[in-house]
Amino acid sequence: QLVPVILSGGSGTRLWPLSREKHPKQLLSLIDDETLLQLTALRLDGLTLDIAVSDRPIVVCNQEYRFITAEQLLQVGVVAERIILEPFGKNTAPALTLAAQTICANGSDAVLLAMAADHAMRNIDAFHAAIANGLPAALDGHVVTFGVTPNAPVTGYGYIQANDREQYPNVLDISQFVEKPDVSTAQAYLDSGDYLWNSGIFMVKASSWLQAMARYAPDILLACDAAVTNAAVDLDFVRVDETAFGACPSDSIDYAVMEKLSLTPDSSIKGYVVPMDAGWSDVGAWDTVWQVLDKDQNGNVAQGDALFVKTTNSLVLSHERVVSCLGLDDIVIVDTVDALLVAKKSEVRDLKSVVAAIKKTH
Ligand code: GDD
Ligand code: MG
Repeated sequence: QLVPVILSGGSGTRLWPLSREKHPKQLLSLIDDETLLQLTALRLDGLTLDIAVSDRPIVVCNQEYRFITAEQLLQVGVVAERIILEPFGKNTAPALTLAAQTICANGSDAVLLAMAADHAMRNIDAFHAAIANGLPAALDGHVVTFGVTPNAPVTGYGYIQANDREQYPNVLDISQFVEKPDVSTAQAYLDSGDYLWNSGIFMVKASSWLQAMARYAPDILLACDAAVTNAAVDLDFVRVDETAFGACPSDSIDYAVMEKLSLTPDSSIKGYVVPMDAGWSDVGAWDTVWQVLDKDQNGNVAQGDALFVKTTNSLVLSHERVVSCLGLDDIVIVDTVDALLVAKKSEVRDLKSVVAAIKKTH
């Protein structure tokens, strides 16, 4: 069986002022009527594989968002198998480990499809085809990633170099995995034409994931084991033990396992990448929101009420009042009740510094 696992724990400070501590980005309707979490939960609709595909995902999120998470899923007709609640974020390696342990504790060894809750995907059929391509390698106990052709030296992604060994059709061997390189390294990877971006979607059997963790991040595995063993189960909610989880080191799937897998070719668990052309994007910052949305002939996008005169390549989100733009290019304006962002679109990746400054003064 294939079980979707939705990792829904980020906060998304790069989408301030819409995303806040109380409203993380995955719970917002940024690119569609549905929220990013809802779009993620619906993304496997219609997927057929050689094995059964569960329509009941496991969701891992912060305990503070348990009700809104369950409610948003129900709104789109999705009933979670389990909602695993973290008292605090420890990044994605522990989050996926909690899901794998919960599955294995139930005596099952499903293939997990771990999905970030903050992505956009234009071509669902291509995504489904990529999952089908990767399945044999996952069933053999390997970790499968989905790779996207890069088009800019983005430093926030993982970069995957692959060898075509043809062991599995349409699947490449990962020869190197580098998480978040600096900009000159990213540029060199881009120029070489040899690298794919890691899309942040992983497919792996629950037991294989736990084996990989035992080898590469045993401290995390032990802490998660205790956190799940001592969890309080309340209907569909699994509230992991706070003390045990508090002792867990914080690390991402990419640093804790993927980089190391690519460095240990002798391992029985290998990393594979399925090249995927599914119109994927990480809705990580305002420039990607602008990229994903349909634009008018001048490259402008409005959500809410906006007027563009002699304005190009700009994004306005305003549900409070009409925003009029005159003579602007490459600008982002996001208006909310208590905060307004006006920024150059090419600079919005630095929004974290604005949010940090505002936290100090407000
Ligand atoms: N439950 C839970 N707990 N989920 C988490 C946590 C956590 O502590 N931390 C992050 N997540 C969720 C986020 O909500 C998001 O959906 C997903 O896990 C990925 O986390 P990000 O923090 O957004 O990762 P990233 O964007 O820096 O990097 C990852 O994604 C890139 C592509 O978007 C990596 O996998 C990169 O290699 C990849 O290129
Ligand atoms: Mg991300």
